[in-house]
Amino acid sequence: MINKEDKKQQILEAAEFRYATKNFDPDRIIPEEDFRFLLEVGRLSPSSFGYEPWRFVVVQNEELRQKIKDTAWGAFGKLPDASHFVIFLSRTRKDTQYDSAYLKEQLKTVKGLPDEHAQKFISRIEEFQKEDFQLLDGDRPLFDWASKQTYIALSNMMTAAAEIGIDSCPIEGFPMKEMNQLLEEEGLLEDGSFGISVMCAFGYRAEDQPEKKRRSFDDIVQWID
Ligand SMILES: Cc1cc2nc3c(=O)[nH]c(=O)nc-3n(C[C@H](O)[C@H](O)[C@H](O)COP(=O)(O)O)c2cc1C
Repeated sequence: MINKEDKKQQILEAAEFRYATKNFDPDRIIPEEDFRFLLEVGRLSPSSFGYEPWRFVVVQNEELRQKIKDTAWGAFGKLPDASHFVIFLSRTRKDTQYDSAYLKEQLKTVKGLPDEHAQKFISRIEEFQKEDFQLLDGDRPLFDWASKQTYIALSNMMTAAAEIGIDSCPIEGFPMKEMNQLLEEEGLLEDGSFGISVMCAFGYRAEDQPEKKRRSFDDIVQWID
């Protein structure tokens, strides 16, 4: 068993090692089992009310990669050289509103809640969406709420990648409307159940990492004693 201090050191080293990799080595491919490990870390990520409102689309197809590169300015330099490229789709209002069929199925089939319990849970979510977070005014607030959950999976996957020496670059540099249009044409949005949330390139750096620049600890941490 690795001791706590060594583990902490390893995690900090991974945080230092990780940087938004701009150029990937085209000759290095992530082993299949390592990439599956990253996807598994994403799958196990937490989400509000346990919605799991995501789908991880791994794009290895050259033609689609080229189309994405032509549409997403923030992907420049990462495609086509990244070993693996993931689009994080997020479920839309159709599937995330408290009375959606998706939520019912999630509670029943995935969580295994008995009907009565599920109904109570749905009422809680209804109140949350209507009153607490006011998510039902238009489609975007609920989509953005679901999208926030996908960033948790994204973050866990990038951290796990760094821990095993894999580089990554998160990408939200794209026009959402055009990207959704492209993905719709490719048949990836499942009848409006999904929209694009964020993307991420994974692979191995082609050049040295630049110096890490961050605000000071005291500037970003506030203690209330
Ligand atoms: C959600 C998100 C989206 C980002 N989108 C892009 C992008 O489209 N293209 C890019 O080159 N970098 C992108 N970045 C990288 C950031 O610019 C980078 O993480 C930040 O400047 C801190 O640098 P570091 O990650 O190298 O420490 C994104 C980062 C995050 C967290």
